[in-house]
Amino acid sequence: MRTKVAIIGSGPAGLLLGRLLECAGIETVILERRSQEYVLGRIRAGVLEQGTVELLDRAGVGEKLHAEGLVHEGVEFCFDGDRHRFNFQELIGRTVTVYGQTEVTRDLMRARDRSGLTTIYEAENVSLHDFDGDAPKVRYVKDGVEHQLACDFIAGCDGYHGVSRASVPGDALRTFERVYPFGWLGILVDKPPVADELIYAHHERGFALCSMRSPTRSRYYVQVPSSDRVEEWSDQRFWDELRRRVDEEAADDLMTGPSIEKSIAPLRSFVAEPLRFGRLFLAGDAAHIVPPTGAKGLNLAASDVAALAEALIEFYAERSSAGIDGYSARVLSRIWKAERFSWWMTSILHTFPDTDPFGRRIQRAEFDYLRTSAAAARSMAENYTGLPF
Ligand code: APR
Ligand code: PHB
Repeated sequence: MRTKVAIIGSGPAGLLLGRLLECAGIETVILERRSQEYVLGRIRAGVLEQGTVELLDRAGVGEKLHAEGLVHEGVEFCFDGDRHRFNFQELIGRTVTVYGQTEVTRDLMRARDRSGLTTIYEAENVSLHDFDGDAPKVRYVKDGVEHQLACDFIAGCDGYHGVSRASVPGDALRTFERVYPFGWLGILVDKPPVADELIYAHHERGFALCSMRSPTRSRYYVQVPSSDRVEEWSDQRFWDELRRRVDEEAADDLMTGPSIEKSIAPLRSFVAEPLRFGRLFLAGDAAHIVPPTGAKGLNLAASDVAALAEALIEFYAERSSAGIDGYSARVLSRIWKAERFSWWMTSILHTFPDTDPFGRRIQRAEFDYLRTSAAAARSMAENYTGLPF
C-alpha cells in the first residue's frame, strides 16, 4: 500500500490533519492502535478556542458544533469563596465554545467515513522506518498479517505514549517536563450545570472546576493527591468535597446525581524539541502535554496540525520545503506560550504540598491583581480564548 501522508493515531490531531489535507486533495491513511469505539469512549476536556472553531469550520466539520456547542463569553474564578467573572467579549472581543472533545473526534470520524478515506483501526505493532531518507515506510500488523505502507511523510499524532516520538533516536530529541504532585478527579453527571459559565475555584483544600457538556450534562473536577485511587471516591464523597471548595451560592445551587463516568487524570507539562526529523513530524500530545487547567490540550493539537497541513500543502503545490523546514520552530513558539499559560493557571489555582503562607499570599495577590487590573484580565482573556494560530 502507498499513500502521501501516513498519519499515526486517530485522536483529534490525526483526524483533523487528515481532514485538512483531504480538503487540499492530499491523500492520507490513518493507522490507529485502538478500535473506533474505544477512541470514542474517552472523555476529555471540552473548551474550544475561537481559532479552533474557525479551523473546524474551514475544514467543513463545524455544523454540529454550532448546533450543539455552547458559546461562552467569559469564565469565573473563585478564590476562597470570592467569585470574579472575566468577560472575554468585553475584554478582547473573543469567545470560547464548550463542546466535548469526544464530539469533535466523532464529527471528524464521520466526515472521514463519508469521504471513504482509509483508517485502519486496531493496527498492532506499528513501526516507523526510513524517515531520514525520502522514502519512509510504516509497518503494522492487522488481524495477524503484517503490512507495509510506503509514504512521502509520516505524521506522528499518536499521543504521549505513542510510537512516533519513541522512534526518534534519543540524542536527536530534548525533552522538558514538570510533573505535578496531584491529579484531577473528574465526574460526568446528567444534571444541569451549577452556573452558566465555567468556575475555576481555588481553595485551601485544593482546586475545583465546575464545567459542563450541555445544558443538561455537567462535568466537575476536584484536585486530589497523585496517590489517590478512584475507588476511594464515592459519589457522595466527591460532592461533599466539591461543595466545600466553591462559594456558598454554587454549593447551594449544585445539582448532584449518580456519576456516569469517574476517573483521575494526572497533571503534567511536557515538551519535546524539535518536532521534525527528516520526513517525520510530531503533533498534538505526541509533541507536548499541558495540564488541563488552561483547557489547551485539544486547541494546541489543532494549531499544530493547522501549521503542518499548511507546510505539506505548500510542499505538494509548490515543491517548496520552506514550510516543512520551518514547522518545528513555528509551532514550538506557540506551544511554549500555551505551556506558560497552562503552568501559570495551574500554579495560581492549585494547592501545592509545599505551599507556605507566603506562597498562599502570592496566589491571593495574583487573584486580586486579575480582579482589579484590566491589563491583567485582558492578558488572561487573550490567552484563554487562544493566541493567534
Ligand atoms: N500506533 C497507532 N496508534 C497509536 C499508537 C500506536 N503505537 N499509540 C497511540 N495511538 C493512538 C491512540 O490510541 C490515540 O487514539 O493515537 C491516538 C492519539 O490521540 P490523543 O491521545 O487524543 O492525542 P491527540 O490527537 O494529539 O489529541 C490531543 O487529546 O489527550 C488529549 O488533552 C489532549 O486534548 C488533547 C488532545
Ligand atoms: C472540561 O470540561 O472537561 C474542562 C473544561 C475546562 C478545563 C479543563 C477541562 O480547563
